Amino acid sequence: MQPLIEPQLSGMVTGVYVGDAVSLPLNRGFGKTDRIDRWWTQPLWMGTALTLAVVYTGLRVLFFDAEIHYDDHRVTSPIFSPDVIHMFHLSTPRWMNSAILILWIPFGFRGTCYYMRRVYHRAFFQNPTGCVVAKPEVNYRLGYKGETGLFILNNIHRYMLYLAIIILTVKFYDVWHTMNFHDGSIGISVGTMMLATESCLLFMYVTSCHAFRHLFGGGMNQWRGQIGGLIGKIFYKISDINVHHGFWFWTSLCMVFIGDLFVWGVADGILNDPILFKL
Ligand code: FES
Repeated sequence: MQPLIEPQLSGMVTGVYVGDAVSLPLNRGFGKTDRIDRWWTQPLWMGTALTLAVVYTGLRVLFFDAEIHYDDHRVTSPIFSPDVIHMFHLSTPRWMNSAILILWIPFGFRGTCYYMRRVYHRAFFQNPTGCVVAKPEVNYRLGYKGETGLFILNNIHRYMLYLAIIILTVKFYDVWHTMNFHDGSIGISVGTMMLATESCLLFMYVTSCHAFRHLFGGGMNQWRGQIGGLIGKIFYKISDINVHHGFWFWTSLCMVFIGDLFVWGVADGILNDPILFKL
């Protein structure tokens, strides 16, 4: 068998072979590493951002849900959309709002996202802490068990994708809804642009999903014929945007909160919603 690393090339390693277990020279002790870059900045800001997102959403949904829309429901807050209570004229208790009914879908979709798993395992569980960075001693004993125990729920991600596609469709309906003014005219306001931007970013997040990629060609053995060839082209297109899935995750998430703050601000009279044009 040929050695993977020739002694004369490496200058140090003497014959490493396929199948050999190679122990990396990892320091023990939480956070110990030979890395010289600021490896902790990414998990730190990501953990902080996710914590803020969950706290903000909880407060908004449970305590400050009075201003979920304004101007007689022309523009809806992204957190409370789809506004199923008004959409289906549901009679619900006074404390109930649409977010309480539907938030389990975006939470379930994002919570089981492959990219999100990487983020929370690093930011919150420190398992791993980072590449070539020592994790807490207890995590060496626990090990990494993948999708077992409670984490088996991650396997429902493809089903959450189907529900997320329905939510996404309603988001585009929300944009159309903002364009219908109560005097019968049609136009575009800053609120329309807000929801349109949020819908487009969410569209990119959903279509760059790994499960979406599997849906369009990833699950096929071959792309033959006209239909198969077309699916193959779609697969390559999705693969291109899939590379930036993390970017779409964060930008679409941020826009949910920017849109919500805008709707809240307008409802409280702090901000205006200028009309850009009207027909
Ligand atoms: Fe992230 Fe599907 S993998 S949303």
